[in-house]
Amino acid sequence: MAALPLDGVRVLLGVTGGIAAYKAADLVRRLRDAGAEVRVVMTEGATQFVTPLTFQALSGNPVRTTLWDSSAEAAMGHIELARWADEVLVAPASADALARFAVGRADDLLATLVLATAAPVTVVPAMNRQMWAHAATQANVALLRQRGVRVLGPASGGQACGEVGDGRMLEPADIIAAVAVGRGPKTLEGLRILVSAGPTFEDIDPVRYIGNRSSGRMGFAIAEAAAAHGADTSLVAGPVALPTPPGVSRRNVRSAREMHDAVLAAAPVHDIYIAAAAVGDFRPEVVSASKLKKSGEPIRLDLVQNPDILADVASLDAPPFLVGFAAETDELERYARGKLERKKLDMIAANQVGNDLGFECAENALLLIWADGSEQLERADKRVIAAALLDRVAARYRASSKARRA
Ligand code: PMT
Repeated sequence: MAALPLDGVRVLLGVTGGIAAYKAADLVRRLRDAGAEVRVVMTEGATQFVTPLTFQALSGNPVRTTLWDSSAEAAMGHIELARWADEVLVAPASADALARFAVGRADDLLATLVLATAAPVTVVPAMNRQMWAHAATQANVALLRQRGVRVLGPASGGQACGEVGDGRMLEPADIIAAVAVGRGPKTLEGLRILVSAGPTFEDIDPVRYIGNRSSGRMGFAIAEAAAAHGADTSLVAGPVALPTPPGVSRRNVRSAREMHDAVLAAAPVHDIYIAAAAVGDFRPEVVSASKLKKSGEPIRLDLVQNPDILADVASLDAPPFLVGFAAETDELERYARGKLERKKLDMIAANQVGNDLGFECAENALLLIWADGSEQLERADKRVIAAALLDRVAARYRASSKARRA
């Protein structure tokens, strides 16, 4: 029988105050089904939505709701709990909880545990879309990310308040898939994987450039999942402000030509190259040494074509297994299959972009295409999609003539 994805993993689940707290009950059940041992800590707000008894029954463990529990605290219960956890998962994480974690408050049990634990911390935001979009919440999330906190979601869609937008808690199955990344078997052990991510910037003058809307999230999620599954992982990153995933060796670049040189230098010693970067196809022919001045006249910018990194890697003597991406606004399958063939790729991951899809957002959906088949990966958090993509890439790599090992 296959091992459970969270076999023996001790998950401390923090539940904060929000209507999505009811989904946390299902999450507990599914975490246990996935093999995890679960203890639940609720904030006072959370107890207004769901009772501790519900979580006690589902987790099979007493639920803690306060720092001031004299029997538990006689033995420094909060420190013990913080040490006990292999993973601290806060779902749903309200705007208030994110703000409190960001400033490092320690005036309730959950916030104290988040400070006191050495385990990885994952937060799953859920709130009204305006609250999510607010600059204060976004700054808190950015700070938490920068400190290594994993942020899953939020998803987009109809909300309990009747509005539609970003702010829904991810579905329990997606949360579990993301938490399981790296905790399962090291299916990519022994493989060297090169990933490119993010946009490229093509300078016009010392202060202006041509860029694109890639946030780097998709490529970083792939690099994170590759390292977590045991691959020796290198990342060539365009200009993005994302933290380097654990265990990944990163090289920063700015322009398409810099990315080209970094990827071409690294590709020969890698088994697989996954090109998730949104490489600028054109650059200004001339980069002005000084800032261009307004003159009231139109400015003419002559653009020349950048090198095609994937095509150049494909023409190496012994190219790695090549996975390209295709970002399309229409006719996804047809254009992607064209790129697969033209660029001599082993597989292409096609995503619909535009209208808040693909670029910048937390979720993606991919149509994987190879010479004699295809598979749809349904919309999910980019970390979940990345893990699924790597599963398929590893299987196809091993079946290919490019696999170098028995
Ligand atoms: O970064 P995020 O905000 O998370 O968004 C993710 C994403 C939408 C950027 C990502 O999922 C994606 O689709 N990346 C590829 C975008 C792209 O440039 O697609 P394309 O169809 O223009 O290029 C096809 C392939 O050729 C890509 O693998 C690209 O990396 C590669 N390419 C393109 C141009 C070039 N000069 N050299 C290349 O190697």
